[in-house]
Amino acid sequence: MKSFFHVSDIGDLGAALEEAKQVKATPFAWKHLGQDKTIMLVFFNSSLRTRLSSQKAALNLGMNPIVLNIGQDSWKLETEMGVVMDGDKSEHLREAIPVMTSYCDLIGIRSFAGLKDREFDYQETVLRQFIEYGGKPVISLESATVHPCQAFADLITIEEYKEKKRPKVVLTWAPHPRALPQAVPNSFAEWMNAAEVDFVITHPHGYELDPLFAGPARVEYDQMKALEGADFVYAKNWSCPGVTDPSRYGQILSTDMGWTVDARHMAVTDHAFFMHCLPVRRNMIVSDDVIDSPRSLVIPEAANRAVSAQVVMKRMLESL
Ligand code: CP
Repeated sequence: MKSFFHVSDIGDLGAALEEAKQVKATPFAWKHLGQDKTIMLVFFNSSLRTRLSSQKAALNLGMNPIVLNIGQDSWKLETEMGVVMDGDKSEHLREAIPVMTSYCDLIGIRSFAGLKDREFDYQETVLRQFIEYGGKPVISLESATVHPCQAFADLITIEEYKEKKRPKVVLTWAPHPRALPQAVPNSFAEWMNAAEVDFVITHPHGYELDPLFAGPARVEYDQMKALEGADFVYAKNWSCPGVTDPSRYGQILSTDMGWTVDARHMAVTDHAFFMHCLPVRRNMIVSDDVIDSPRSLVIPEAANRAVSAQVVMKRMLESL
């Protein structure tokens, strides 16, 4: 595996889920693979789970992880080409990338969408520069449009907890005080469309995900109707993807607290499990009683981030 951005990069999903099961059962069985190998984990944005689970996965495989927080541990980096660098950014990615990759065998990048320029974000401009100038396998640790390590962990969790062969999975938008990127819902939709599930997306009008990710998923604008009979409820906020109106890209279109997932919403489901990628704003995205209930999977879901990351790194090491 040379890069990990999309569900297609993992190949057969059944085989990937079986491999995840093996990795979870015997996490240290492939420690030889990473001997004398280094992974660099580059963070342009904050993280708790991604940073720790990626380090844990690398250590399980016997690799040396190096973490770099851009702008805190390093110089601030310029990401746009052709600019006069007379501001606060001291170094350009064009030099920084080959320097960083000269010290490692694999590289993971966290670089969120700026939510100002749809084209810049949806072309994955930063990630593409790491591919073009780095020459090493690249893992998206949440880039402008995708968060594949999260979506893979979500699928592993659904596989572990499902009580039906083909469960109904509902991705519901929920309110948030800040404008958030679309990477998590994009990847979740992409992976659910490829999985053996009945997948439904619900959100207020204007929040339609890019068709590249929403694919053939059913969109139901009536949240309660969408949740009827659900087996898994996956809540997430995202800002306007700008599909129907590009001028509104990255904006908050709704603050309707009626979309906060609470007991009223869960009551119409088929005793559904609750999921969220975390970090989560309690009583904005989800009520305390729902996230604290025995049907909440937010902790096992986060724990599976180390499993999904290890499967991806293992495959990359195997193909070096
Ligand atoms: N879910 C997730 O990616 O968490 P962090 O932002 O804390 O890494």
